[in-house]
Amino acid sequence: MAPYVRVENVAEHAGQEVIIKGWLHNKTDKGRLQFLLVRDGSGIIQAVVFKKAVSPEAFEAATRLTQESSLVLTGTIRADERAPGGFEMDVMDLQVVHIAEEYPITPKEHGVAFLMEHRHLWIRSQRQHAILRIRATIIRAIRDWLDNHGFIGMDTPILTPAAVEGTTTLFGVDYFGEPAYLTQSGQLYNEANIFAFGKVYCFGPTFRAEKSKTRRHLTEFWMVEPEVAFATLEDIMEIEEQFVGYIVRMVVQERARELEIIERDITHLQRVLPPFPRLHYDDAVALLHKKGFTDFPWGEDFGAPHEAAISEEFDRPVFVHHYPTGMKAFYMEPDPANPQTCLSVDLLAPEGYGEIIGGGQRMTSLALLEQRIQEHHLPREAYDWYLDLRRYGSVPHSGFGLGVERTLAWIGGLDHVRETIPFPRMLERMYP
Ligand code: 4AD
Ligand code: MG
Repeated sequence: MAPYVRVENVAEHAGQEVIIKGWLHNKTDKGRLQFLLVRDGSGIIQAVVFKKAVSPEAFEAATRLTQESSLVLTGTIRADERAPGGFEMDVMDLQVVHIAEEYPITPKEHGVAFLMEHRHLWIRSQRQHAILRIRATIIRAIRDWLDNHGFIGMDTPILTPAAVEGTTTLFGVDYFGEPAYLTQSGQLYNEANIFAFGKVYCFGPTFRAEKSKTRRHLTEFWMVEPEVAFATLEDIMEIEEQFVGYIVRMVVQERARELEIIERDITHLQRVLPPFPRLHYDDAVALLHKKGFTDFPWGEDFGAPHEAAISEEFDRPVFVHHYPTGMKAFYMEPDPANPQTCLSVDLLAPEGYGEIIGGGQRMTSLALLEQRIQEHHLPREAYDWYLDLRRYGSVPHSGFGLGVERTLAWIGGLDHVRETIPFPRMLERMYP
C-alpha cells in the first residue's frame, strides 16, 4: 500500500507511488488528459489523469469533479521544473470523497463584503491560506523567543472583575448575577506572576468594545504580554527590539513562499534590525509640527495619520517613549524628572502601520496607585489584590503587549486586520 503524504513533503517521494488526500482547486479539461490542481492544506500539486493510465470509472470521476470536491489520489510523484512546487503526480487511481455543490467563491473578483460573509470558505483560497500560515509562524516565533529567554508562559483569566485599559472599552458579562468583564489585557495578573517567576508572559485572546471602525481595530484580538521584574523602561525597550527582530527574521526565513504569494516586498522586512530608533514624545510632537501637523497639541494621543507621519521618517520600527501621563493608563510610573510624563513606550511599525506594541514601567508606590485608582474612578475593591503586590516586596518592573493582528498586517503588508485572523470580530461583524 502506497504511503499517505502531504503535498509539502512530496519532494521526499520523487519517483515513488503515494496517496494524496485533498480538494480540487481547479481543473483543466484536455479531453483524454485531465489536469487537476489539488490542494491538501499544506500545498498545491498538479495531478495528471491520463485516460489510458486509469480505470474507466476513475477517469469518468475525474471529468465529473467540481471545484472544491474532495478526493483521494494514488499516483507517482514526478519532478517537473515547470510545476508550481517542482513536482507533479501521474495519477493511477482516483476516488471521489464528495462532489461539491456549486462553489460560491470562483476565480473571478468578489467584493470584500461577500468574501467576509463567506469567510469560512474564503480561508481555503491561496492568499488567505498564505496569510494565516504566516500568522502561525509569528505565533510560534513569539513563543520560541520568550521560552528561550527565560520567560515562563502563564495563562491569565479571560473573565475578570476589573478594567485594565480604561472602562470605556469593556465587554460586560453576567457572571451568575454579578458583573464581570472579558479581559482587555492580562497585565495586572502578570504583575502578580512576576513576583513568583521573575519573567513571565501571557498569550491569549483579548477583548475591547471598541466603537472604532478602522483598518486596525478588532473587538477580539490576540495579544502576547511579557512582564519582567526589576526591568526599567530602557530594559524593556531592549527586550522589545530583540523580540520583534526575531519574529520578523523567522517569518522571512520560514515563510518565503507565502510572502511571495501575497506579493510582499521583503526588503522592508530585511531592514528590521535592532537597535530601533527611540523618540521622546516631545520630539515626536516637534516632528509632527515640522511635518505639517502644526496645531497638534502637546498632551494628545496620536491618531493613525500622526503615527504614520512619525514612522515614515524611519526604515524600521520606532519607539516613542515618555507619553503624557494624562493620556495613559492608571498604572504607568511617572517620570521622576517630570511627572507630567510617564515611563511608557509604544512601538510604531514602519510603512504607516502604526502602534503594534504598548507598554512601559509600572507604578511601584502603593500610595500613588491608590490615588490613581481613585482619579480614574475605578472601583477600589476590585483592585485590592493588585495593591497587595505593592505591599509585599514591591520592585520596579516593566512589560508590554504586542498585538498579533497588527503585527501580521505590517509584516504581510496587508491593508486591513480583518484578513489577519481566521474569523475576525469587529464592530459590524460577528458572522460567521
Ligand atoms: O496599548 P495596549 O492597549 O496595551 C495594553 O493592553 C497593555 N496592558 C499591554 C501591557 O503592557 N501588558 O494594547 C497593546 C497592543 C497594541 O499595541 C495593539 O498591537 C494591540 O494590542 N491592540 C489591538 N489590536 C487590534 N484591535 C484592537 N482593538 C487593539 N487594541 C490594542
Ligand atoms: Mg496602546
